[in-house]
Amino acid sequence: MSSLPLSSAPWPRSFLKECDFSPEQWLTLIDLAAQLKAEHKNGTEVQRLAGKAIALIFEKTSTRTRCAFEVAAFQQGAHTTYLDPSGSQLGHKESIADTARVLGRMFDGIEFRGTAQTDAEALAEFSGVPVFNGLTDQWHPTQMLADALTIREHVKKPFTDVAHAYLGDARFNTGRSLLVSSAMLGMDVRIVAPPKFQPDPQARTIAQAYADRTGARITITDDVETGVRGADVVSTDIWVSMGEPKEAWTQRVAELRDYQVNAHTMALTNNPDAVFMHCLPSFHDLETSIGRKVFELTGLSALEVSDDVFNGPQSVVFDQAENRLHTIKAVLVAFLQR
Ligand code: CP
Ligand code: NVA
Repeated sequence: MSSLPLSSAPWPRSFLKECDFSPEQWLTLIDLAAQLKAEHKNGTEVQRLAGKAIALIFEKTSTRTRCAFEVAAFQQGAHTTYLDPSGSQLGHKESIADTARVLGRMFDGIEFRGTAQTDAEALAEFSGVPVFNGLTDQWHPTQMLADALTIREHVKKPFTDVAHAYLGDARFNTGRSLLVSSAMLGMDVRIVAPPKFQPDPQARTIAQAYADRTGARITITDDVETGVRGADVVSTDIWVSMGEPKEAWTQRVAELRDYQVNAHTMALTNNPDAVFMHCLPSFHDLETSIGRKVFELTGLSALEVSDDVFNGPQSVVFDQAENRLHTIKAVLVAFLQR
């Protein structure tokens, strides 16, 4: 795909999806996040966003993404306004375009989490200010920066030497973004899922175009053993995503249960240093109402990851969650400090 940005391309105005960025630009954001994290930890953080106002639109629920935007903005001196679907006219009484034109006159930037990528793109087009994609059904780009920073911290190899296996539902936001961002970073990326849950042709084409440039190796397989052999990172995501009907659980569990990340999966890597990653939230025990309901339906007390792996020594999921803060802060600084 020749339309991917080259290293010399200008910065996009908004942070909407991975394929708007060159690999060099993506690395710049990861480097900036590492710098901002170090500054925050050693008490030398400088407020670069004083006086900036940021709208946070959440059509879907969130813990990490919302908190990361709010805390990152606070630490950098910016103000945030949180809009949930019931607290604004968006979508039901006012179009995206009209809302965007209003918000663009008041705010310096807008975060959007929702269903359609086209809504994030429309907000960017009509608001005239930078828009930050906090997750759509198609892409989850802020998550990918946090994942990359976490890999850099825990896997002592250059990105181009990292083997990253992702198991489970790879046709939704996290799986698609992980394929593309891993290819962008030149990794040996393995997507391990039944054919129905493998990435669509668009995501594959974008990833291959990056791979042609970065030397990434891409494997898409339904065979767990092949997929995880030699992996440095094993990742997964929940099996039924926000916006999907709860009736999907029983069939989904039957379709994906062989792709659970458990002690056997980690052993199959044959790599004692392999780390386990998950964007969270996760169903690894019966401490959630959905987890208990799915247990009643299927008899499985852990879904996409077993509790021993989630809480075990190879798991870096809470470092990964913390890195949402530092990487989202890097996005805000890179796009608003202009
Ligand atoms: N990983 C992630 O996006 O988490 P939240 O849904 O809690 O924001
Ligand atoms: N695929 C998940 C990601 C949550 C961060 C969802 O869309 O619900």
